[in-house]
Amino acid sequence: MNTIKAIMTRRSIRHFKDRTVEEEKIETLLRTAMQAPSAHNYQPWHFIVITERQILSTIPEFHPHAKMLHEAPAAIMICGDTRLEQSVEYINTDCAAAAENLLLAAHDLGMGAVWLGIYPRERRVQEIRRLLGIPRQIIPITLIALGYAAEEKDVEDRFQPERVHRNRWGGVES
Ligand SMILES: Cc1cc2nc3c(=O)[nH]c(=O)nc-3n(C[C@H](O)[C@H](O)[C@H](O)COP(=O)(O)O)c2cc1C
Repeated sequence: MNTIKAIMTRRSIRHFKDRTVEEEKIETLLRTAMQAPSAHNYQPWHFIVITERQILSTIPEFHPHAKMLHEAPAAIMICGDTRLEQSVEYINTDCAAAAENLLLAAHDLGMGAVWLGIYPRERRVQEIRRLLGIPRQIIPITLIALGYAAEEKDVEDRFQPERVHRNRWGGVES
């Protein structure tokens, strides 16, 4: 799949087949995530690959929008390391870039995935820390649920020409 097609056809997938994700595909996802741009090229990320059913199914107990984890065979917790990047804003941005790479790569590999927000929701951060044993210098930013899709989603065209400004703010409908 070419890059533009992958970007334009990716959708969040929240229903998954009961099928294990192959280890080499997990590695490809991690490689694409770590290929993301980051401020100063600090690459301040860590990734926790979660495949234990009990851990996956505990997360919806404290995350109100994560019930697909009862079905998902895997999830990847993207964390930021405050020892590698001091600005939490940059950590958040860098991890978001890694997350988007991972979502697009999953789509390209024939899988489905969905982004689950953790940071800056305090309770989610706290509970994920406790569940996964994440130390205090590490911030859990974004969780990606993934697997083989058990649903199909239509492509959505989200182009909004009125959101595009030329040279300076404004335009006909400013
Ligand atoms: C920062 C962020 C947090 C999100 N958190 C959740 C979440 O907790 N649960 C969920 O099901 N989807 C979550 N999503 C996915 C969005 O709902 C989804 O991307 C959006 O509705 C657009 O749909 P699409 O991904 O199919 O294009 C999140 C997306 C982002 C970028």
